[in-house]
Amino acid sequence: MPKTCLVTGGAGFIGCAISPLLAKHFDRIVAVDNMHPQIHATFERPAALHEKVELIVGDVSQHETWETLLPNMKPDVVIHLAAETGTGQSLTEGSRHANVNVVGTTQMLDAFVRHNAIPKRVVLTSSRAVYGEGAWQDAKGQISYPGQRSRAQLEAKQWDFPGLTCLPFEATRTEPRPTSIYGSTKYAQEMILKAWALSFDVEIGLLRLQNVYGPGQSLSNPYTGIVSLFAQLAKAGKVIPLYEDGEIIRDFVFIEDVANAIFRITTGTIPSSEAYDIGCGSGTTIRQLAEIIASIYEAPMPIVNGAYRNGDVRAAAADISRTHTDLGWMPEWDVRRGVMTLCNWIDRQL
Ligand SMILES: NC(=O)c1ccc[n+]([C@@H]2O[C@H](COP(=O)([O-])OP(=O)(O)OC[C@H]3O[C@@H](n4cnc5c(N)ncnc54)[C@H](O)[C@@H]3O)[C@@H](O)[C@H]2O)c1
Repeated sequence: MPKTCLVTGGAGFIGCAISPLLAKHFDRIVAVDNMHPQIHATFERPAALHEKVELIVGDVSQHETWETLLPNMKPDVVIHLAAETGTGQSLTEGSRHANVNVVGTTQMLDAFVRHNAIPKRVVLTSSRAVYGEGAWQDAKGQISYPGQRSRAQLEAKQWDFPGLTCLPFEATRTEPRPTSIYGSTKYAQEMILKAWALSFDVEIGLLRLQNVYGPGQSLSNPYTGIVSLFAQLAKAGKVIPLYEDGEIIRDFVFIEDVANAIFRITTGTIPSSEAYDIGCGSGTTIRQLAEIIASIYEAPMPIVNGAYRNGDVRAAAADISRTHTDLGWMPEWDVRRGVMTLCNWIDRQL
């Protein structure tokens, strides 16, 4: 039986990266993407999108998109990537995020039922943003959820939660407590998909991605991609400014590792409908990241500018042990090698 895969948001950073893997496995691959101007500055089909992928320009939140698409295809598997992704931006443009991420998901699911095109499996790329600040531990081993840092705390430069250490995020252990509208919409996507999939006997694969970076990332989108942002500043010989005290922690996971994880959950056995955490499995401070990048370009050393962004979390890193055991996936790229590869790619673009 020929196999068809539908990828929403398939012309984006992650969509392009998974396209060569999907091309080897599926007979037909259709990407539906509205070619969002924030990501696709020239509105052209990305060169990195595998030639086998049929690209249909359409907005997932629009009823008409599905009315045009589904009479011509019945997907076996759906990879749902389409989303508004700017965390900071979601604070002031929350309706747009809710419309694309939440209504876009329900429009898609309604359409599958309406057109009798219910897939066997749906994969969702959720986000570490669903955890918010996650769980922290005190010296006695007591675990608590300190929640979101208030504006007053941030203005007073109280960046940390005194006496507490952040624990790595793991979906079966860490409760979701999003601190951004973006994170809330990603969590809503998970919940909607779970409820729907159980009712229609559809397998679901949920991945919570940490900070993905690497070649192919949009260089024109000012709202996402701290690694490419830092690289472009350093390449221009500028000082990289560090928010807060420079000790914000992130788990930077290379695009090739993420593509492999998505491919595994798309094509392999899914032992659990609980989300799987996808990261490199350790935290890097933004100071460490900026220093690596500054040294690659021989740019001035980064400086702390004390600025902050509302809704940003202090620390985020994944515990990937369950993902490794269940999916047999392990990241292969460390941050230094990944950043070097990204910088080489940027040098060829700009
Ligand atoms: N890149 C990361 O660090 C990261 C981290 C966690 C989760 N994710 C998730 O992974 C998914 C893909 O992210 P990405 O990094 O490839 O982002 P991206 O912005 O590069 O790609 C998203 C794609 O979706 C398209 N799109 C946006 N709105 C749409 C709409 N209304 N209808 C159809 N298409 C639309 C865009 O044109 C773009 O091509 C998203 O769901 C995101 O939430 C990404």
